Amino acid sequence: MSTPSTTLPGGTWTLGDLTVTRFGYGAMQLAGPWVMGPPADHDGAIAVLREAVDLGITHIDTSDSYGPHITNQLIREALHPYPDSLHVVTKIGGRRDEQGGWPTERRPDQLRRQVEDNLESLGLDTLGVVNLRLGDADGPVQESIAEAYETLVDFQQQGMIRHLGVSNATVAQVDEARAIAPLVCVQNMYNLAHRLDDELIDRLAADGVAYVPFFPLGGFSPLQSSALSAVAARLDATAMSVALAWLLQRSPNILLIPGTSSVAHLRENVAGAGIALGEDDLAELDRISPRES
Ligand SMILES: NC(=O)c1ccc[n+]([C@@H]2O[C@H](COP(=O)([O-])OP(=O)(O)OC[C@H]3O[C@@H](n4cnc5c(N)ncnc54)[C@H](OP(=O)(O)O)[C@@H]3O)[C@@H](O)[C@H]2O)c1
Repeated sequence: MSTPSTTLPGGTWTLGDLTVTRFGYGAMQLAGPWVMGPPADHDGAIAVLREAVDLGITHIDTSDSYGPHITNQLIREALHPYPDSLHVVTKIGGRRDEQGGWPTERRPDQLRRQVEDNLESLGLDTLGVVNLRLGDADGPVQESIAEAYETLVDFQQQGMIRHLGVSNATVAQVDEARAIAPLVCVQNMYNLAHRLDDELIDRLAADGVAYVPFFPLGGFSPLQSSALSAVAARLDATAMSVALAWLLQRSPNILLIPGTSSVAHLRENVAGAGIALGEDDLAELDRISPRES
């Protein structure tokens, strides 16, 4: 059922009972501009997904909101029937409107429809991991998540979902979810320049819960920093490789889901993320966004 070992940088991690490579792939960038509509290069998108699996990646992150439905459909077209080792992680809790907005939808009936849509578009009988997407497009919002998370637990008990996670969550919401039922991952915004979750990452690591940073490379505005460029130049590496290597070395519970619509970038990122950062490199990179204490 699972891949016990890998040659990919970072090795593997187990989400509940699903072993995945710590180097995963985020599919959001495969949809059209601003994550709406189909990609300009359909065959290129299919090639990226197949290359990810050929490289040994066993964790693909997606959402039916991307497109909407587009990235899930591409994943199904490229990879179905899925290898046993491959685990697709999706998220629910919102939808796309005609203007490309991201309105929230977290009532039980809305969540059920989203689970059913994901099962249909991905061609699965059970969703391996589902993140409850919280907050709004501007970031986390502190409010109770009990009703929505309990609804997902209900779907889990019905066999529609194997494992649960939360995304775009506050620390209090992570704690609220964990008090209701176990979660296997937290997917929040985090990268070299945005480190609000440092303390949460350490706490989750101690408890064996994965932390999956979205926008690991800066998202729509790629990371730019003189310190990052200086370290990359010293190591004869790309800035993106250093940013990914830093995440892998930051904590063993961090799983990578960098996005790209380019086979060349995917190969470059996989090859580069294994670079060893020394104490001097880490100290310089830490100064980009010092930890709060
Ligand atoms: N839970 C949430 O709320 C949430 C929100 C956002 C994203 N996500 C997830 O997180 C994943 C990652 O986020 P993301 O894709 O938006 O951002 P990202 O991984 O931080 O950055 C992706 C961008 O980096 C570029 N890139 C990648 N490799 C590169 C390289 N070697 N050289 C130069 N540029 C490179 C890509 O352009 P190219 O296409 O040209 O390579 C793309 O524009 C998404 O795919 C999605 O699954 C989740």
